Amino acid sequence: MSVEIQFNEVAARIEPLLTNYEGQQGILISLLQDAQTEFGYLPEDVVGIIADRLDLSPVQIYGVASFYSQFYFEPRGRNVIKVCIGTACHIRGSSAILERLEKELDVKDGETTPDMEFTLETVNCVGCCGLAPVIVANERVVRKKEHQKVVARLKSQGGK
Ligand code: FES
Repeated sequence: MSVEIQFNEVAARIEPLLTNYEGQQGILISLLQDAQTEFGYLPEDVVGIIADRLDLSPVQIYGVASFYSQFYFEPRGRNVIKVCIGTACHIRGSSAILERLEKELDVKDGETTPDMEFTLETVNCVGCCGLAPVIVANERVVRKKEHQKVVARLKSQGGK
């Protein structure tokens, strides 16, 4: 399934966001956040348009955005499953969980399924080590007894 967005559509959707910040200084991060909310990631054309409007180069934008782990430059799945591989989770078996999810979804860490339904990622400590091993699905911690069913549950919910 192609998720490529045509330049004209990108330009039309980014314009209101740019207008919101017109005449303001120090808006880059906020603008990138808004753009990512709009598109789900930061397409190359979006970076180009923002760079042009702020009189920066795309390289400068990538330089700033790649500093923050919150920004993505590739399309992501409708559901994002994160497996914590921090120390506490690692000790309690997160590698086996990751392996099982990689098999179930037929993707590797950091990849998205071809139908754009699922992105599988690893993260380092999400701050609830007492619950280790931790899986976070669409920004919600999955209860341990639900671990085995997380993919099926998300599929049955048709998303978030
Ligand atoms: S190490 Fe996984 S939540 Fe802290």
